[in-house]
Amino acid sequence: MAERKPVIVSEEELRLQREYMQMVRENPERPASYHVVTYGCQMNAHDSEKLAGMLRDMGMEEAPDREHADFVIFNTCCVRDNAERRALGNVTWLKEIRKQNPKLIIAVCGCMIQQPGMADRILRQYKFIDLAFGTSNLHKLPELMHKKLQSDRAVVQVEDEDTIAEDVPVKRLRKDSAYITIMYGCDNFCSYCIVPYVRGRERSREKSAILNEARQLKESGVKEIMLLGQNVNSYGKGLAEETNFARLLQELDEIGIPRIRFMTSHPKDLSDELIEVLRHSRHILPQFHLPVQSGNDEILRRMNRRYDRARYLDRVRKLREAVPGIGLTTDIIVGFPGETEEQFLDTMALVDEVGYDSAFTFIYSPRTGTVAAGLADQVPEDVAADRIQRLIALQDRRQKEEMARFLGMEEEVLVEGLSRRSDKAVSGKGRHGVSITFGGTEEDVGRIIRVRVTEIKNNTLMAERLD
Ligand code: SAH
Ligand code: SF4
Ligand code: F3S
Repeated sequence: MAERKPVIVSEEELRLQREYMQMVRENPERPASYHVVTYGCQMNAHDSEKLAGMLRDMGMEEAPDREHADFVIFNTCCVRDNAERRALGNVTWLKEIRKQNPKLIIAVCGCMIQQPGMADRILRQYKFIDLAFGTSNLHKLPELMHKKLQSDRAVVQVEDEDTIAEDVPVKRLRKDSAYITIMYGCDNFCSYCIVPYVRGRERSREKSAILNEARQLKESGVKEIMLLGQNVNSYGKGLAEETNFARLLQELDEIGIPRIRFMTSHPKDLSDELIEVLRHSRHILPQFHLPVQSGNDEILRRMNRRYDRARYLDRVRKLREAVPGIGLTTDIIVGFPGETEEQFLDTMALVDEVGYDSAFTFIYSPRTGTVAAGLADQVPEDVAADRIQRLIALQDRRQKEEMARFLGMEEEVLVEGLSRRSDKAVSGKGRHGVSITFGGTEEDVGRIIRVRVTEIKNNTLMAERLD
């Protein structure tokens, strides 16, 4: 792959976008309200916060649902086939809504749009889409909106560039917990994965920009930050300043935000230095998302993961030794091309051995353009479906067993909201990343509360308040 340099979006360009924002704000034809529909991972969730920030600054009100908005934007995902189909199905359905609201503008952005050939397909096949742009053009929404208001034709802009845009307005979903992107893109090219093709080459934000953002968030009363990147462990590559993820974490820890989380970590890049930072940190939470994907060395090799089962288990052992009781979670793919029953059983044995607090399990989904999509020996659907059932059953049992370690333990919960089951109870995540429910009211939302775990009910921890 040809060498590509990250494109730092210039201050001049960002000033230009602010001028477009103002033009849209003053345009009587502009939509009065917007609604953002988000698919996919936390990266997309945070991108949607930026979309909402720009739309707010263009003078639009947030509508409670898509039926009541004049501008609906779909921020799409294409990591698996079902994610893509769901997005397209929903966009198509909006065609009907337009019959009731002829002024409705339909926009689509995100990973799905960044796939090769997609921009053309939108213009030819999905003629009801008014506005479309890729992941690298997010900051240009004001300009594209301005163009759309001047024209009856679809406005489509997808560039194959690795941009970093600082200072894009953000409208955050939560007041107490905030996302901070530390790096964009991915260079790992796991053979099944489309992300490197739709998010571009790996590039890190300047450390000073990240630290400034964290300090501002602390000032505004944020209690938790979640650092985002497809592979946070390789943070720092390509920056002028010599740095890495372990050092970034250490500096963030010193700022004093009560809770720091991050995702995702790649097992091949999880260094001893990072584990030492976790051991001594004050604010980094005792939880770790470490996708394993498979427990079989041959499958891992063909996935291009560049670690083996032994290395993975060694990382788990070191993490647990440094941070006793750490909450471990993972991602697993079943039915990778050529996966035999025996190889699958290696994954089952690993899940049994590690004991995860939770696992996201997926049936392999071929993605056009990736290496694995071209492999012979695709596993039949019914075989893959049977394997995932068995894996889920095993994980369910192991999860229950792991939860037992919390019984009687003190935990601190950042309250997210009222419990779904009762309006006299609240729930949120403990420091280890597990959901905890206990007696409380709306007033507790956004606060950190000390509790003692008293019971385990359907994989949720129930607790009593201590203060
Ligand atoms: N960067 C992260 C996660 C990226 S996508 C990482 O490296 O772990 C999130 C998860 O989706 C992956 O961990 C993987 O388990 C799953 N996934 C990605 N591509 C997939 C595919 N083609 N089929 C099924 N699952 C896939
Ligand atoms: Fe995809 Fe692998 Fe990159 Fe994760 S590390 S985004 S699975 S290519
Ligand atoms: Fe999906 Fe893009 Fe995230 S493909 S998983 S939204 S990086």
